[in-house]
Amino acid sequence: MDSIRIQGGRRLVGKIPISGAKNATLPLMIASLLTPETLTLKNVPQLADVQLLKRILGNHGVDYAVRGKRFAKEMPAGETLELSAHQIVDTTAPYELVSRMRASFWVIGPLIARMGEARVSLPGGCAIGTRPVDFYLQGLEALGAEIAVEGGYVIAKAPRGLIGARVVFPRVSVGATHTILMAAALAKGESVIENAAREPEVADLAECLVKMGARIEGAGTGKIHVQGVGALHAAEHSVLPDRIETGTYAMAVAATGGEVTLCGGRPDLLRAALDTLGEAGIDVTETNEGIRVARNGGPLRPVTVATEPFPGFPTDLQAQLMALMSRADGTSEITETIFENRFMHVQELSRLGADIRLDGQTATIRGVEKLTGAQVMATDLRASVSLVIGGLAAEGETVVNRVYHLDRGFERLEEKLSACGAEIERLRA
Ligand code: UD1
Repeated sequence: MDSIRIQGGRRLVGKIPISGAKNATLPLMIASLLTPETLTLKNVPQLADVQLLKRILGNHGVDYAVRGKRFAKEMPAGETLELSAHQIVDTTAPYELVSRMRASFWVIGPLIARMGEARVSLPGGCAIGTRPVDFYLQGLEALGAEIAVEGGYVIAKAPRGLIGARVVFPRVSVGATHTILMAAALAKGESVIENAAREPEVADLAECLVKMGARIEGAGTGKIHVQGVGALHAAEHSVLPDRIETGTYAMAVAATGGEVTLCGGRPDLLRAALDTLGEAGIDVTETNEGIRVARNGGPLRPVTVATEPFPGFPTDLQAQLMALMSRADGTSEITETIFENRFMHVQELSRLGADIRLDGQTATIRGVEKLTGAQVMATDLRASVSLVIGGLAAEGETVVNRVYHLDRGFERLEEKLSACGAEIERLRA
């Protein structure tokens, strides 16, 4: 298994191009199941999760082609991916594939909407909490699907098609919103999705669905209206920039000091996180190219933050903020409200010398003078990158083991950071 070796203490100076968002790419790719015509996605990041989803969709009969291959050293826009679900050959999503990536469960929405049936494995356990699928099933039932769970599979049937309905989610779920939005696009009549996720990735999916002929209003707000249509058609859509990647590199620069422009980063996608960095004493400026983040010798002030659904502070930046605050001049408090077990990085950051105490869902972080390099273990995607931030800010050598988690969501991480002066390299197993 590959690992990443970092020699800490280098300031980051330069430019980092921001890739297309993983969390938008996945639902957009899944939306290709809704039409027999070709969906063309631009600015697709090269990530392990994207590769895996290509395989999963291929299993259902989706053909894909990559246009505009790029050269290694160029700072490119992402790939262009053409997805054609001309014929759905299989409506089963098997355990072997779904268990490797939770988001693949979302195929249940388009499959039942277009084919009237779907058999999708339950995603199974996940390192950051139980993450059930009850909201998805309640939503599909509201649209008229018959649902049964047998042998670890959800079997959904709607032989006469889905029927528009009012779906009220008990709490905000990004995945359930994506899934019901896709299903409602092809249902008969009007659907209203209430307490919908307002994440920019939901709005991006809706924008693409509208280009495919869907009738959707209100995406990006808590209430989405969908007027079902008989069929969707070909479209071309460019994936929006990755706000989590943007926030991650912003926090890396805040931790090491320096000055970096996050090219293509969009401040409106991560206002809460940028405001938090401002509170911590980091200079954040909007420029023509994107977002410039600078910390030139000033103190790092502690912050108190709770994760929240968009537009609040994202849970996907919680671990990175904790790594940053472990060096602050004072005591910070970070409360996780989205997932019940998203603190695995605490033990590993402690190995670098961080002083973090956990009490239920709240972590109290007392800033320390210095972090020192150590061997650490990546446990999930965002936790892994918090260890990279810790390693960049630490004195001496840090080795982050099990980096396959990082490859799921961060494109060319070592390349992007070393171009800004970080001493970071991949050790291939
Ligand atoms: C998505 C993101 C993930 C992010 C998360 C929250 C992708 C690929 N993943 O995950 O990076 O951390 O949103 O912003 O976009 N829940 C239920 N029942 C359900 C569905 C969800 O109880 O049927 C709970 C979950 O356990 C969790 C909360 O709702 O506590 C929010 O989860 P959700 O928004 O669904 O996360 P994902 O869509 O899986």
